[in-house]
Amino acid sequence: MYQTPLPPEYAALSDQEAHDRIQAAKRALGDKVVVLGHHYQRDEIIAHADYRGDSYKLAKDAQRHPDAQAIVFCGVHFMAESADILTPDHQAVILPNLAAGCSMADMANLFQVKKCWSELASVTDVSRIVPVTYINSAANLKGFVGEHGGTVCTSTNAPAAVSWALGRGDKVLFFPDQHLGRNSGVRLGFDPVRDMVVWDPFKPLGGNTPERIREAKFLLWKGHCSVHARFTVAQIAAARAKHPNVRVLVHPECALEVVQAADLNGSTEFILKSVEAATPGSAWAIGTEINLVSRLAKEHPDQTIVCLDEQICPCSTMYRIHPSFLCWAMENLAEGRIVNRVQVPERTAVFARLALEQMLRVA
Ligand code: 13P
Ligand code: SF4
Repeated sequence: MYQTPLPPEYAALSDQEAHDRIQAAKRALGDKVVVLGHHYQRDEIIAHADYRGDSYKLAKDAQRHPDAQAIVFCGVHFMAESADILTPDHQAVILPNLAAGCSMADMANLFQVKKCWSELASVTDVSRIVPVTYINSAANLKGFVGEHGGTVCTSTNAPAAVSWALGRGDKVLFFPDQHLGRNSGVRLGFDPVRDMVVWDPFKPLGGNTPERIREAKFLLWKGHCSVHARFTVAQIAAARAKHPNVRVLVHPECALEVVQAADLNGSTEFILKSVEAATPGSAWAIGTEINLVSRLAKEHPDQTIVCLDEQICPCSTMYRIHPSFLCWAMENLAEGRIVNRVQVPERTAVFARLALEQMLRVA
């Protein structure tokens, strides 16, 4: 599915016009619509959200209004797919701009994962490997995982999900984010060198020897988030030098050395809760997407809150949910037309649901 160009009247809206028209459409729709906003969305979108949260929380919030006709998901494509899988068929999940994807999710596809699985089968017993996919992945990968007895995880529950998986097999194949996989394993006490190998989908056997694959506990897909990969240990040192008593708080999609040099790490919801619980005068250097960091700084003027990367790093795909797109989707809905519905075919959804439900059971 591709995004069609917006009708010119929407592209030309001023910020205020877009705001007022979204609000008017929302009022007209009443209980028929629920608007979800991921923390990385810009303020002009968050202003309309009934619920805001990280991907774990929003997957649960999507299920809170089974009578609503539509869920408008202001986030990225994999989040809308997950919401569709977890909600009844009569609810339409709408992504205001279909071009809002995730570059990390695109780093693993079903063809590559199936190829990886059959290559693994040539050197080890795959019935002892439990696949774990980060929620940042296409629905058909969640389906693969569900079909092979694995689970989806989010940044909120990744260590618990990995621990669950290791209770059911000898190894975990973790995709698509190597960093979240590595950080979760290290948090559980595993050694990032001895116990882990990286699987490069463009090399035979992922670039590993059969012996290393057999020894490893973690097979980590060679994927990353282009936003969180920008944070460095040098930035942490600079933040500590510039702001005495600063606490460094990063997302676990950052590299292991960054997570280890930080004071705290956790999902976007964890980052938000940590700042909310802090006392006035606290200072934070935060390694995550800039829209969340800027909002936290605005909402907590009694604390010093800066982004770890002074060059600023928005998630360019989250940013594609522009108010003009939201306005277009909401006004069409108010007039009885569903645009940009994200619908996962049932043959995929049936296994993906198993893996997502397992994710929701692992807190
Ligand atoms: P959260 O699970 O923290 O919402 O992260 C989603 C995401 O895309 C982070 O880059
Ligand atoms: Fe994907 Fe990274 Fe953007 Fe999150 S911040 S949606 S992982 S590209």
